[in-house]
Amino acid sequence: MSPPPFLLPLLLLLTLPFPSFPSPTVCIVGGGIGGSSLSHFIRRYSAPQSNLTLRVFERNAVVGGRMATVTIAGHTFEAGGSILHPKNYYARNFSEMIGQRRPGSERSEDGDRGFGIWDGERFLLRSWSVDSMGGFPFAEKMVSLLNDAMMFFRYGFSLFKMKTFVEETVGRFLKYYECSDSRPVFETVDEMLKWSGLYNLTTHTLEEELISIGLSPLLINELITVITRINYGQSVRISGLAGAVSMAGSGEDLWAVKGGNWRMAAGLLNQSDVLLHLQEEIVSVSDLGTHYALNSSAGNSYICEVAVVATPLDEVDIEFHPPISIPKRKLQHTHATFVRGVLNPAYFGLKTVVEIPDLIGSIEDPSLPFSSISVLKRHGEKDMTYKVFSRQATEDTLLDEIFSARQETIRINWGAYPHFDAPEVFAPIILDGRHLYYINAFENAASTMETSAVAAENVARLILLRLHGGLSLGMSDLRGIKSDPTYLHSDL
Ligand SMILES: *[C@@H]1O[C@H](CO)[C@@H](O)[C@H](O)[C@H]1NC(C)=O
Ligand SMILES: *[C@@H]1O[C@H](CO)[C@@H](O)[C@H](O)[C@H]1NC(C)=O
Ligand SMILES: *[C@@H]1O[C@H](CO)[C@@H](O)[C@H](O)[C@H]1NC(C)=O
Ligand SMILES: *[C@@H]1O[C@H](CO)[C@@H](O)[C@H](O)[C@H]1NC(C)=O
Ligand SMILES: *[C@@H]1O[C@H](CO)[C@@H](O)[C@H](O)[C@H]1NC(C)=O
Repeated sequence: MSPPPFLLPLLLLLTLPFPSFPSPTVCIVGGGIGGSSLSHFIRRYSAPQSNLTLRVFERNAVVGGRMATVTIAGHTFEAGGSILHPKNYYARNFSEMIGQRRPGSERSEDGDRGFGIWDGERFLLRSWSVDSMGGFPFAEKMVSLLNDAMMFFRYGFSLFKMKTFVEETVGRFLKYYECSDSRPVFETVDEMLKWSGLYNLTTHTLEEELISIGLSPLLINELITVITRINYGQSVRISGLAGAVSMAGSGEDLWAVKGGNWRMAAGLLNQSDVLLHLQEEIVSVSDLGTHYALNSSAGNSYICEVAVVATPLDEVDIEFHPPISIPKRKLQHTHATFVRGVLNPAYFGLKTVVEIPDLIGSIEDPSLPFSSISVLKRHGEKDMTYKVFSRQATEDTLLDEIFSARQETIRINWGAYPHFDAPEVFAPIILDGRHLYYINAFENAASTMETSAVAAENVARLILLRLHGGLSLGMSDLRGIKSDPTYLHSDL
């Protein structure tokens, strides 16, 4: 099997002898999408004879990190990272590798009661639903036309500006899928974002960005606020980039992995020939000059030439010797409450359950006790599974007001994503100038499954490039190697 041409530069590097590390071990802290994609890309970009050992440490009993499922009353739902965009090309390939994709929304199967924007007293906006057109021929088509008209009536041309903004941002992001021949290996997040033209969006808030391109405050404070609250649990004061990413993630044709998105991580690790250490938490990383010693909660000490942190450092307690210094960042906690039961129409000023929209988003008002409530599955007219997102834990007293019946309630507190704070300041990807790397430095640009895979792909190439000489090579050196025929190796 001959490798695709764009892999040649890296393969050439790897088939040269490693001066310092003949058979290096790469230790990866975290078995989520970052750590598993890193394993995948390291294998994909390295030659079979490179003798790399990959060790992955996962403190939980299962891999997947913030991709996890919850089982409530016998049905399983995504509890964390749940939806993927059609242009999430790495995730798409990963899920094809392991099996299947399915539509991201579990709601549409038996009628859709639309969405509503709740201000604490009333719905500011309610979409038409297929139910309300019961039996009418072409009901779905009619509903979609009516909804477009209603949205246009409320928000006007701002809607088109919004769409253009999102499309332009997605277009820039697509540069990260260009073949690695023309795509540099980045040593910093700043460089990586500047190269694609996305950096400026991290220096302003979404609100500033949208006002500057002429969106109406009504659209920003209603629809767009609802979207950022659902996807990032935060207001439109997140950065323009995180905002654009969350807006892209609320469009159509979203999808998820059948059986749970965590299966991407499981599948990638399974196919990457890794030594997987489950329920083993890394407590310290010590630089011993030519290698690192990673000590674990199980009392083991592992020697690795390369160490990669693939989990947000914001809330874990890893001791680094010598200490490292990264900018302060907070994680935004999102409380996901899963309820099997039925909402109380009276709470929303309505008379019957069928009048309640399937997706209720709320505006930015500190007195509102939830960010969103959505129907995950309709088991019967008065028997549904819902997901409630909120910034604080949901008390029983609150749930008893919102729901008229609850059979089962499951609460999960996620350290879900960074608390975005424009202008963003990024941690280094190379934490110590040597071989200690940090994938999640990228996460305050935007935090999604796909952006983690994109960040991991870059780190994989960076590791392979820097392992070669222990030196920091720029892309020009790589190109030089490729165009110099004396480097051509007979295996290729
Ligand atoms: C990889 O390991 C094998 C067996 O240990 C050894 O024969 C081979 O030379 C090594 N290859 C490299 C590139 O170090
Ligand atoms: C996805 O997989 C296909 C087929 O293996 C490959 O040609 C394509 O480059 C992959 N896409 C990305 C973004 O890696
Ligand atoms: C980003 O901002 C700088 C300074 O304001 C400007 O020179 C540059 O053209 C902008 N880049 C993009 C891609 O908008
Ligand atoms: C790992 O992959 C093999 C095939 O490549 C498959 O048979 C096996 O079930 C997989 N194991 C897990 C845990 O996914
Ligand atoms: C790590 O473990 C080794 C072996 O048990 C020990 O010598 C070393 O002091 C430990 N390092 C730290 C930072 O605890």
